[in-house]
Amino acid sequence: VSSAFDFASNLFPLTSTAGAGYTALGAPSTPGLESGGALNGGSLEKHKSLTYLNGLSLVVGLIIGSGIFSSPAQVNKNAGSPGASLIVWAVAGVLAWTGAASYAELGGAIPLNGGAQVYLSKIFGEWAGFLFTWCAAFVLKPGSAAIIAIIFGEYIVRAVIGADAVDASPWINKGVALGGLVLVTALNCISTKLGTRSADVFMIFKFVALLGVTVTGIVVAVTGFAWKGKASDDWKTQGWFEGTNTNVSNWAVALYAGLWAFDGWDNVNYVTGEFINPARDLPRVIHTSLPLVIASYILANIAYFFVLPLSTIESSNTVAVAFGHQVFGPVGSLVLALIVSGSCFGALNATTFTSGRLVYAAGKEGYFPEILGKIGFGGRGGVIRLNSSRSSRAGGNRMAKLIADDAGLFYTPINAMILNASLTAAYVAVGEFKTLITFYGVAGYTFYFFTVLGLIVLRVREPDLERPYKTWISTPIIFCCVALFLLSRAVIAEPAQTLMVLAFMAAGLPVYFWRVRGRGRERGEKGVGWRFWKRWGRV
Ligand code: ARG
Repeated sequence: VSSAFDFASNLFPLTSTAGAGYTALGAPSTPGLESGGALNGGSLEKHKSLTYLNGLSLVVGLIIGSGIFSSPAQVNKNAGSPGASLIVWAVAGVLAWTGAASYAELGGAIPLNGGAQVYLSKIFGEWAGFLFTWCAAFVLKPGSAAIIAIIFGEYIVRAVIGADAVDASPWINKGVALGGLVLVTALNCISTKLGTRSADVFMIFKFVALLGVTVTGIVVAVTGFAWKGKASDDWKTQGWFEGTNTNVSNWAVALYAGLWAFDGWDNVNYVTGEFINPARDLPRVIHTSLPLVIASYILANIAYFFVLPLSTIESSNTVAVAFGHQVFGPVGSLVLALIVSGSCFGALNATTFTSGRLVYAAGKEGYFPEILGKIGFGGRGGVIRLNSSRSSRAGGNRMAKLIADDAGLFYTPINAMILNASLTAAYVAVGEFKTLITFYGVAGYTFYFFTVLGLIVLRVREPDLERPYKTWISTPIIFCCVALFLLSRAVIAEPAQTLMVLAFMAAGLPVYFWRVRGRGRERGEKGVGWRFWKRWGRV
């Protein structure tokens, strides 16, 4: 353990007084975790600055993105009736909640940065964690960010230039998407605080927006007033469950669409190591954010039903804009388009914050080139450099305060963030929207499934492991069953995409043997990689 820790602190000559080493956190008990230790002994985690509110906004900020404003069409079309769609929304929400609760247990027991990466490493071996990082850094994170960025671009163009421009040339949308991406990346490179503060602001913005939609829906339902004449009363005339679809694969598609809107519930797990009190705050974050989001999604959907004719909800990919137009006319569609783009921008911000840290951790661990595991502009520190002699002179308290406050300008994983932004930009430029979504769903749920399955494995294998938060055992079981159902549907419906995902994962294995096994880190095997590191004084 100590050698792993020293390894990290040699790279980052920071204070030894202010930061609790990872050993003080969870007393990792198995050798498998030690590599997670090297991965996590880094300086970002010594600046434990994240609070309950930050966690809440990282989760809510990513979950509420594009989905609730545009997926209702997919859900409705496939569920067949308003009642059935509401059930799909509820089921998707509860499923996300079970997943998040399972991740909260894992995060409490293994309070390190990296999310599924460290859990999989501990449970199944480092290769599993590596494969996750490989897929997450190159596909999952930038791919999902690209989807959100594209939707952001579309809504901005729609609001500013007009609906026709959206279809005129994809490059207008993509250009705006890239602009947003650059802006978000810059924010997150400048300072950690800027990233988390923006996330806080956007979370409030999103709740207010959804509340606004709900209240508008209720007022319209009660008074019947709407700019376009009388509001829809389909919900009165048509039975709530009339037309419900009985085909299983339609329900699976509906569920997928709903799950996209709830996705992002694992966001807080990537940065668990930076929490001041992860054992207390992680479950709190999950058990407040998920119920809040579920409630506001269901209310927003009811509002859509009160205002819009069912045919519109089923055919429009921009339900929220149609909603605004129906109630307030052109001004309404403009406002709603701006709200959706703001929401997407916030989600982009929340995902960028954690992606940067994931890549950074992988760089420090030696999974990816070392330069990615640097803070600031590639050198040995950011603009503000702290070292142990200075920190002892400054005295514990001031130091602690500085660190608690902010580590300083550009004290962020800039290189990692630039890689993430470049990959995202590439997906925005060449990616095909539908392919991105399917790929994301299949690969994402494969890892969710194995991670949550791992929770069950860990319960059996290490019953005595300290778990500050323990969820009901039914929680991971339910999640695994539904995830397996979804994955099996995907294999049948999209065999080619599934193969692509598997091929990409398999491609990670040789890289694992080259980057990780070759180094023989802490295993006493001195491979080629290890000699390389030794030569450069890194071991
Ligand atoms: N729920 C978000 C939305 O509605 C998408 C989250 C994407 N997931 C992720 N891990 N980036 O837009």
